[in-house]
Amino acid sequence: MTIPTLELNDGHRIPQLGFGVFKVPADEAQSAVASALEAGYRHIDTAAIYGNEEGVGAAIAASGIPRDELYITTKLWNDRHDGDEADAAIAESLEKLGLDRVDLYLVHWPTPAQDNYVHAWEKLIGIRERGLATSIGVSNFLVPHLDRIVAETGVTPAVNQIELHPAYQQRDITAWAADHGVHIEAWGPLGQGKYDLFSIPAVADAAAATGKSPAQVVLRWHLQKGNIVFPKSVRPERIRENLDVTDFTLDDAQMAAIDALDPLDGSGRVGAHPDDVN
Ligand SMILES: NC(=O)c1ccc[n+]([C@@H]2O[C@H](COP(=O)([O-])OP(=O)(O)OC[C@H]3O[C@@H](n4cnc5c(N)ncnc54)[C@H](OP(=O)(O)O)[C@@H]3O)[C@@H](O)[C@H]2O)c1
Repeated sequence: MTIPTLELNDGHRIPQLGFGVFKVPADEAQSAVASALEAGYRHIDTAAIYGNEEGVGAAIAASGIPRDELYITTKLWNDRHDGDEADAAIAESLEKLGLDRVDLYLVHWPTPAQDNYVHAWEKLIGIRERGLATSIGVSNFLVPHLDRIVAETGVTPAVNQIELHPAYQQRDITAWAADHGVHIEAWGPLGQGKYDLFSIPAVADAAAATGKSPAQVVLRWHLQKGNIVFPKSVRPERIRENLDVTDFTLDDAQMAAIDALDPLDGSGRVGAHPDDVN
């Protein structure tokens, strides 16, 4: 299968479908990432706080896959926004990953109560200039945070990685992203398994009609929306299933039925609110 790629606003390309390793224990990360690479994934999404960058790096090293065929993302944790902490943090992440650069480095959360995310963003601009990250972006940023970093630095992030799944579509942030040429990375693309997404009729009916699984239908919906996704699984059969989403298309009615699932009152969120993470 061919995984589609998208062009970021800095001219670099990103595979639209990857593999996420949130909550993959450190001692399982190498085998999970090895399964993913074996299945054909080339884009891995990790973070310093996940505690599994070494396992990701071990799987990359053992794979023998040329570095320029891989797309690796990691993230700056919340307690490292001040001073020169971000410079130390990227050095530590690169050492654990066994890499001399990542493809994408993100400010993990805005931590608004600390009020230092503009400084963290300035540090990422420097990290990109020094070649330690090819592209830079943010995660969990709300529209006011996005407006502020752009106004104060003149640099627009390449991506904003936010919680997004059928019951929680974050239309204000996706509209801002479309207006500013920013790609959305949807974390928790399957709702983290925290609500019964797969038996909702819009999803189950599309699965029956296309002969694909409900998870594949939801991932296909993301791809057709233009979202970048990296579903997480530690099960090899699901790792393969989640990649097998490029041989079918949801029609306009199937897309519209899933679009309509967002209750528009914010109740579909399954993760933390960015204002509460500090
Ligand atoms: N920036 C952030 O703040 C942030 C926050 C959260 C996540 N993320 C990133 O986004 C990635 C994906 O999000 P996520 O891991 O939170 O949630 P997710 O991918 O929506 O859901 C993962 C859950 O779904 C299950 N699952 C996976 N494939 C399945 C399938 N085909 N059928 C049925 N169940 C399936 C997994 O179970 P099994 O493992 O047992 O298969 C796991 O319980 C993360 O790994 C991480 O890289 C970023």
